[in-house]
Amino acid sequence: MHNGTTITQFIIEEQRRIKDATGDFTSLLNDIVTACKVISNLVNHGALVGVLGSAGSENVQGESQKKLDVISNDVFLKSNEWAGHLAAMASEEMEDIYHIPKQYPRGKYLLTFDPLDGSSNIDVNVSVGTIFSVLRCKGSCQNPKAEDFLQPGTDQVCAGYALYGPSTMMVLTTGNGVNGFTLDQNIGEFILTHSNMIIPEDTLEFAVNASNSRFWEAPVKRYVDECQAGTDGARGKDFNMRWIASMVAEVHRILTRGGVFMYPMDSKMASKGLTGKLRLMYEANPMSFIVEQAGGMSSTGRERIMEMKPNNLHQRVPVILGSKNEVRRIVAYHDDETRSKASAA
Ligand code: AHG
Ligand code: MN
Ligand code: MN
Repeated sequence: MHNGTTITQFIIEEQRRIKDATGDFTSLLNDIVTACKVISNLVNHGALVGVLGSAGSENVQGESQKKLDVISNDVFLKSNEWAGHLAAMASEEMEDIYHIPKQYPRGKYLLTFDPLDGSSNIDVNVSVGTIFSVLRCKGSCQNPKAEDFLQPGTDQVCAGYALYGPSTMMVLTTGNGVNGFTLDQNIGEFILTHSNMIIPEDTLEFAVNASNSRFWEAPVKRYVDECQAGTDGARGKDFNMRWIASMVAEVHRILTRGGVFMYPMDSKMASKGLTGKLRLMYEANPMSFIVEQAGGMSSTGRERIMEMKPNNLHQRVPVILGSKNEVRRIVAYHDDETRSKASAA
């Protein structure tokens, strides 16, 4: 028997504090939670239910899709299309926005999601997750367009992720701090287990795909070199490195014990005309909202991610987020570079 607060109870109690709340948002969140429970169940059963391996197709970004990318996308669409809270949805796995089918009513919210994050981890049984972001539909809710989604991260109503790890967790913010819930598989409910999550301001841990180091820009190289030099270098202390290749799992570690996560700009991506690896609308913005709400910081190195005006549903951005003092330092290294380039010109 649990005596904890369920996620539904938590959201209802939060909404009660908001004047004129209609219950629409609570109900939308319930459908998102249901979708994540279904995906969690599929991930847990893996090969037993035949969901591992490639789907044999590519998404709009030219990445090969795993079966579970496609299935999770479908689970999200089906769970969220019917209830009348959404005007439209957008996902990593779909080039265009998803219109609510004609037989269902349309609502005032927009939902963007990465149905399965870290999908290169699926077949090797390492943690994956789901990321989502809720926006208000400011244009016509009956006939929404892709442009209606292109709002800065500061306009998000809610952001969250589900982590399918040793336990399944849901971490959420509605702009009033960050709370974490653990799925009790026996009763099928997420229970509040991590209230008011705060990222320590300092850290001795960083996460970056170091195989790209020869392509990095000077400020990122400088930061990582200094960390690696440890007690012998400018920082005078030893750092530890982690790379899970699943942003959800990295952000969760950072929310739990601090750290810095980077997927910075690099010359390899630039040569392909890419502006970063991670996608602004359904990876960088929701994670930045969560990190900032937990007292951390999030930047491209040159600007606050949440203030960027998106120009495309699938826009990519450099991401540097986590413990405030370290992210501040990396941003300062970018500023130093800008200043020295300006004075050399
Ligand atoms: P997705 O599986 O949704 O495409 O996202 C994967 C992302 C992110 O979660 C992770 O941090 C990064 O890509 C991994 O990149 P590398 O393959 O360079 O390690
Ligand atoms: Mn992803
Ligand atoms: Mn994905």
